[in-house]
Amino acid sequence: MKSQPIKETPKALLPLSIMYVEDEGVILRSINTMMERKIQDVYTAPDGEIGLKIFKKHKPQIVVTDIKMPVMNGLEMIEKIKEIEPSTKFIVVSAYGEINYFLKAIELGVHGFILKPVNVSKLMNLIRELGNGILLQKEIERKEEERKRSDEALREQKAYFEHLFESSPEAVVISSNDGKILQINRSFSEMFGYTEEEAIWKVLDKLISTDELLKEATEYTKQVAGGKDIRIETKRKTKSGKLLAVSVLGTPIIIEGKQAAVYGIYRDITDRKQAEDELKASYERLQKLIQDTVNVLANVVELRDPYTAGHQHNVAQLGIAIAEKMKFPSDMIEGIRIGGTMHDIGKIKVPIRILNKSEMLTDKEWEQIKYHPTVGYELLKDLDFPWQVAKMVLQHHERFDGSGYPNGLKNDEILMEARILAVADVVEAMANDRPYRQSLGIEIALEEIEDNKGILYDPGVVENAVGILKNGVFVFSKKHTT
Ligand SMILES: [Fe+2]
Repeated sequence: MKSQPIKETPKALLPLSIMYVEDEGVILRSINTMMERKIQDVYTAPDGEIGLKIFKKHKPQIVVTDIKMPVMNGLEMIEKIKEIEPSTKFIVVSAYGEINYFLKAIELGVHGFILKPVNVSKLMNLIRELGNGILLQKEIERKEEERKRSDEALREQKAYFEHLFESSPEAVVISSNDGKILQINRSFSEMFGYTEEEAIWKVLDKLISTDELLKEATEYTKQVAGGKDIRIETKRKTKSGKLLAVSVLGTPIIIEGKQAAVYGIYRDITDRKQAEDELKASYERLQKLIQDTVNVLANVVELRDPYTAGHQHNVAQLGIAIAEKMKFPSDMIEGIRIGGTMHDIGKIKVPIRILNKSEMLTDKEWEQIKYHPTVGYELLKDLDFPWQVAKMVLQHHERFDGSGYPNGLKNDEILMEARILAVADVVEAMANDRPYRQSLGIEIALEEIEDNKGILYDPGVVENAVGILKNGVFVFSKKHTT
């Protein structure tokens, strides 16, 4: 591989601008050539007047000038330049014997003198010295400017955050790691009733917690001071002793990796809590109204049919117990309560004579009895329950193998709630007296569902029903009135 020739890099030029004013062309040219090799911007002028014009245009930092020149001498030019830019540095070059001019130059405050004939290296040393001073000054000014700018940016940022802090609609407090208040905003004062003077240096939790909540509040503050964020809903008290429901957001303030303080934001949620409580109360009232209405409907049918009074209630209770054992959700269980309590509501249309008949029913009478799930369904189907109550009622005499009525549904064509009610209905009916027979007893009832497990009845439902009935977890609470 061919080696590359090493290029000579030119020495860096001094980052300065300089003007050399000299009426002797030979000197002017030779010194100019020398300066251009070492200094970034060099301007030359043959007399003071042209020198002044060039200065006005380029503002060189250093002016090197002869004194005796035609048109305008060097000292006149210096005077005028100083008026334009007082920080300009001057080096005067003159012949020996012009002592008076030197004195005048000293008066004008020039920075260096060079005698003619010019010793170039001496001149360069002087330029370098002045140049270093200028560059140093420039660096100082630059740094000062930078500092001012960053101070300004910091001030702006601080003002911005102070404004945010102060004008936040939420109550904000900054406290020390041991819980003493360092700063509060206007909303904090408004929410809790303390002025800044009253609050500063007080222990925050003692100031706004009730005695009962102090321990809990102190524990939370400790957690935040330990670097943890917290978000809670609790109560705090105002200066006048009024209790407020508040949400609290506590967050640690970390400065340069160190836990410096605790930042707390409080939001008054009293109105929201009150609205929530009212909504809850109204929901509970509504729930109770539904339950009461359902009980009334159940009572209507039971009033006509005293033999089965209490039957629907018991079926609902056993249905609930089975569903709980099967770990069904509470909402579904609530549906079973409603459906169970009304499952025989369709009997309202069965003549009392048939309901109370102790002899064998005729086929026609039996047909009328079998119509009751459909009547119940028709009565309930337009009620906008959050559960499928009408269908539960319609399907409670369906059987797992399709042998039930009214529609001969099978397996999972039958609602799970209806499969549960079917088992509860059979057990309840067999375990208690009926108009046409005495109670058969719980043992016989269990035998019936176990023998027909997976045939007439859902096997899972049977297993769970047997489970709670055999070990006495469930007992019927309502006695039939017969
Ligand atoms: Fe029934």
